[in-house]
Amino acid sequence: MKILVLNGPNLNMLGKREPDKYGTDTLEDIELFLRDVAKKLKVEIDFYQNNVEGVLVNKIQQAKNIYDGIVMNPAAYTHTSVAIRDAILAVEIPTVEIHLSNIHKREEFRHTSLTAPACVGQITGFGKTSYKLGLIAIVDYLNK
Ligand code: DQA
Repeated sequence: MKILVLNGPNLNMLGKREPDKYGTDTLEDIELFLRDVAKKLKVEIDFYQNNVEGVLVNKIQQAKNIYDGIVMNPAAYTHTSVAIRDAILAVEIPTVEIHLSNIHKREEFRHTSLTAPACVGQITGFGKTSYKLGLIAIVDYLNK
């Protein structure tokens, strides 16, 4: 089983970026943590980050026939991107949306996710554990 872990804008700045909200782990730390989880689950992951909406759309389109599932943190595009939502719907790859912070506990504009309705489900608020829970959830979903 092959899972794409997709990360949106500014997540490359984790560790330095608003650590009170996002913690002190870098994205590389999270990748290493998740690779360990993937090994235990016996699944293969590719870990990818980009700041550009269209590049993320391209990556989702290219995922067709390569990946069985997607775990994605669309970051700020969660709240704005019809294009990412449409790309997930277009490729029909089961996807779990995850967030480090609890988006429902923050500013009102973060309460809406345009991308979550295209996903199997959403995990939000558990820090890097959201990545782990997202991976467990998609593997469990695909094994059913
Ligand atoms: C985030 C939440 C988003 O609202 C924000 O724009 C991010 C990170 C999270 O993981 O908590 O960049 O997706």
